[in-house]
Amino acid sequence: MPEYIQINGAWPYANADIHQGNVTGSYLPADIFARYHRLKGNHVLFVSGSDGHGTPVTVKADEMGVDVTEVFEHYHGRFLEVFAGLGLSYDLFTHTETENHHKVSQDIFLKLLENEYLYTKVTKQMYSPAAGKFLPDRYVEGECPNCGFDRARGDQCDNCNTLFESAAELVNPRSKIDDSGLEMRDTEHFFIDLPALAKDGLEKWIQNPEKESWRPQVLNFTKNWILDEGLIGRAVTRDMDWGVKIPVEGYDTKVFYVWFEAVIGYLSASIEWAKNNGEPDAWKNWWYGDQAKSYYFIGKDNIPFHSIFWPAQLLGVKGLYDEERDLNLPHDIPANQFMNMEGRKISGSQNWGVWMIDALERHDPDPLRYYLTAVMPESRDSDWTWEGYVTRNNKELVANWGNLANRTLKMIGKYFDGVVPEPGELDERDTTLLAAIDAGFDTVGDLYEKTEFRAALAETMRLSSLVNQYLDETAPWKSAKVDMTETGKSLYTVLQAISGLKALFAPVLPFTGQKLHELLGEEGQIFGEQKVVEYEEENRQHQAMTYDGSAAIGTWSRSEIPAGRQLPPAQPMFKKLDSEVIADELALLGES
Ligand code: MF3
Ligand code: ZN
Repeated sequence: MPEYIQINGAWPYANADIHQGNVTGSYLPADIFARYHRLKGNHVLFVSGSDGHGTPVTVKADEMGVDVTEVFEHYHGRFLEVFAGLGLSYDLFTHTETENHHKVSQDIFLKLLENEYLYTKVTKQMYSPAAGKFLPDRYVEGECPNCGFDRARGDQCDNCNTLFESAAELVNPRSKIDDSGLEMRDTEHFFIDLPALAKDGLEKWIQNPEKESWRPQVLNFTKNWILDEGLIGRAVTRDMDWGVKIPVEGYDTKVFYVWFEAVIGYLSASIEWAKNNGEPDAWKNWWYGDQAKSYYFIGKDNIPFHSIFWPAQLLGVKGLYDEERDLNLPHDIPANQFMNMEGRKISGSQNWGVWMIDALERHDPDPLRYYLTAVMPESRDSDWTWEGYVTRNNKELVANWGNLANRTLKMIGKYFDGVVPEPGELDERDTTLLAAIDAGFDTVGDLYEKTEFRAALAETMRLSSLVNQYLDETAPWKSAKVDMTETGKSLYTVLQAISGLKALFAPVLPFTGQKLHELLGEEGQIFGEQKVVEYEEENRQHQAMTYDGSAAIGTWSRSEIPAGRQLPPAQPMFKKLDSEVIADELALLGES
């Protein structure tokens, strides 16, 4: 029975370009997982979008001196370009400025209110008489009470690194926008009753033995907070004008806290996808019932929002969109650690990172995907080095996998005019090799399933080495001088093994996988088509990315390449990279 696999990538803030750390931390593992499950024949729904709200985006707009919508649209458009280039096969990559997202966020809020998981509380907040509004802590500056630094921010002192609970701790607070003085005023906000939700389900959920298969960092952190430290109510609204409006009277100068509504994007994007496909209820297959499982691929800094607050929100909306059934809580949250570059933390402000939109102009997507998988920070922080990229491209992709396919296809061209030779009678060595490849569909499949992508890739590369070894031992170029039957048998066997490896590598290497598919004389597409689409809601035009898998024919198995088939001329899948690439790339970074 095919399962319904709901896959979620983190929603990038629309305030900065995407670097390799974002890709390997969240978007690429999500895509590999989606592609694997599509090959398995499961029903995949893979969604994400641009996170358009919150101070990260408004601060950027202020810095650039432009309207916040402009910032949002600028980066959203660049994300679509990068994701199309990298082959991230989102069923829908949307954003949080859709009417649909605003509506679903408000529905969730109203249901939480109806179910009595929200309460109001008056808090104190910095108010700017000059601007006539409350200011988020990021917009407040003042003297640090700890070190006296005169330009400490409302949330943190950059001089002594003290974190503040509230900007009220600053001495002589003033507005970052116009330097005017500020005063404390009362403001009312909605809070989510996390202690009640802990009792009403969260505690039981996290103690379910099924959770023991989670990554230990994610599970320990989550259990600690819910069970040992304990939860307190959290504000879900803010005094701001950019964001999703609160559907309650007297709240027209406030919006939802960005994290409250960004995580709702997983649900709203699923609903939007179903609507756009003309089957408005289809999303329910992925959100209700035991046949459906959801996975959240995120970076470690996002863990509590996905493992505590989002599950609490979902638990609290009993009765939303379905009277009888409860929305599924996350099945797994395979959070990744961080990636550094050349031993240093990736940093936008220091321009220290591989900006994907540029890198894709100089590098093919599959080598980038390959390296980002081979050094994916699954269990500890990892390091991107240009030397590592070049070395792994040359030694693994080119010399091992690429060369195996290329020299085999070339020999079939040379000795058999490109026609797949007759196998004759396969002996034990031949069948043992093919059995090893076939067993890979279980062992490698198991690793993909467990979101251990580094290991899945390494195991596939090991199988490729095994086939290279077989080729060296049977040496069809030698037997070709004396016994064409032997030559044919060897090349036939290797070709079948390559056909299997093509599928095993395909979740990581979809572009060259398709190329090889064609070189093997296979028809159609392994995967479906992605495209950037424009569409209209009631009164807005949107750009999004979608995936159409209806014509995909890939399967999680080795397809037989029949004897007698005429193959197209051989062509390499990968390019050897000159070591100058390393120097050139480091020079672009300002290193020599
Ligand atoms: N925008 C957040 C970040 O870049 C991630 C949000 S993931 C979400 O850290 F799904 F919660 F939106
Ligand atoms: Zn300080």
